[in-house]
Amino acid sequence: MHLYRSALLRFADDGSALYDEDGLLATAPDERGVQRVVAAGPWQALAARHAGQPVTHWPGRLIAPGFVDLHIHYPQTDVIGSPADGLLPWLETYTFPHEARFADPDPDHAAGVARFFLDELARNGVTTALAFATSHPGSVDALMAEARARRLRLISGKVLQDRHSPDGVRDQTEQSLIDTEALIHRWHGVARLGYAITPRFAPTSTPAQLGGAGEIAARHPDVWIQSHVAENLDEVRWARELFPASRSYLGVYADFGLLRERAIYAHCIHLDDADRALMRETGAAAAVSPTSNLFLGSGFFDYTAADRAGMTYGLASDVGGGTSFSPFRTMLTAYYVGREGQTKAGVSLSPEQLWWQHTAGAAQALGLQGVVGNLQPGCEADFVVLNPAATPLLARRTQAANSLAELLFALIVLGDDRLVECTVIA
Ligand code: GUN
Ligand code: ZN
Repeated sequence: MHLYRSALLRFADDGSALYDEDGLLATAPDERGVQRVVAAGPWQALAARHAGQPVTHWPGRLIAPGFVDLHIHYPQTDVIGSPADGLLPWLETYTFPHEARFADPDPDHAAGVARFFLDELARNGVTTALAFATSHPGSVDALMAEARARRLRLISGKVLQDRHSPDGVRDQTEQSLIDTEALIHRWHGVARLGYAITPRFAPTSTPAQLGGAGEIAARHPDVWIQSHVAENLDEVRWARELFPASRSYLGVYADFGLLRERAIYAHCIHLDDADRALMRETGAAAAVSPTSNLFLGSGFFDYTAADRAGMTYGLASDVGGGTSFSPFRTMLTAYYVGREGQTKAGVSLSPEQLWWQHTAGAAQALGLQGVVGNLQPGCEADFVVLNPAATPLLARRTQAANSLAELLFALIVLGDDRLVECTVIA
């Protein structure tokens, strides 16, 4: 067993923040060798029970759950900051050509990007991600192998896109489904890894490919599903033209058996209330991607309507449409989006709410509550050590914080990778 002593942040089951200014986190390995939280709370109340165990003391620091990024594209690490008039030209001009490089049979390109990507997640305090690979099965192997070596809980999948895609990224319907099933067998449940069936978005898949993906999903109820929906108005129009029989763009995924628990849909901006009710009823969740939505001019996630419908959501960077790997940038931008509001009836998201959406709330969206994204007993011990005095302004502002909300807000507004002193993987 190992004890850590520091300020400690975690979340109760109802999503409220629990904070100990002088906290204790005790971890011990489970039968697979994964460190799990065995105790968390005030040092004064718990230390005597664990006397004699080795202690790492981090005075002036804050231990917090590792961040969970609900939607990110590892092959788009080098696409960040590529401007375009909107989603569809951005895909054509920058994204598809970049992803086509992963067709290279030399595995070094994919492995190199995977290493850089995972280093960047760690530097930013992200310990779990639901990540798109490319349409090339080797891109999944490269990321999974590297994540396994680092003992990460990470979920990824081969992109399915058998039409309206250029040479180099377009796959073949039947082979793409065979590859998906083979990758599930190769990686799902290996160490801490999980597989996600990954249709890019409805416009780039034939009905046959979406139908095949739905059949694979039915055979594997515990694998994840990830895709994009209702991000951009041109995209929505295109999807409606291609699938006129479906009630809505989101309805396409429902019609092919791709809405369920463990299904994560990025963006969910241009939904109507029937769509939101469908998200709730099926247990699918939205990956809210605010930096991407502002960068590509896609729109504003409607927090008010989502809460009214009772749908599940969490935060995501959506790199490389997104502009930062940093959860602090994502949380701050989500705050701006909440203030603006799609209907102009903005909400003020609290710092505890924002933080929850990027940790325990995102884990809940993945069906991994009590596993990652929190530091309650039983959780896998993925955590970050934050230095609230990492910059002169952070030191000055956090010193003057009079409440947990003030402290967390200061970290969200002023923080970035410099805050993350270390990232510990279970
Ligand atoms: N829709 C389809 N593909 C993509 C992608 O790579 N990024 C984003 N943001 N939206 C998409
Ligand atoms: Zn995306």
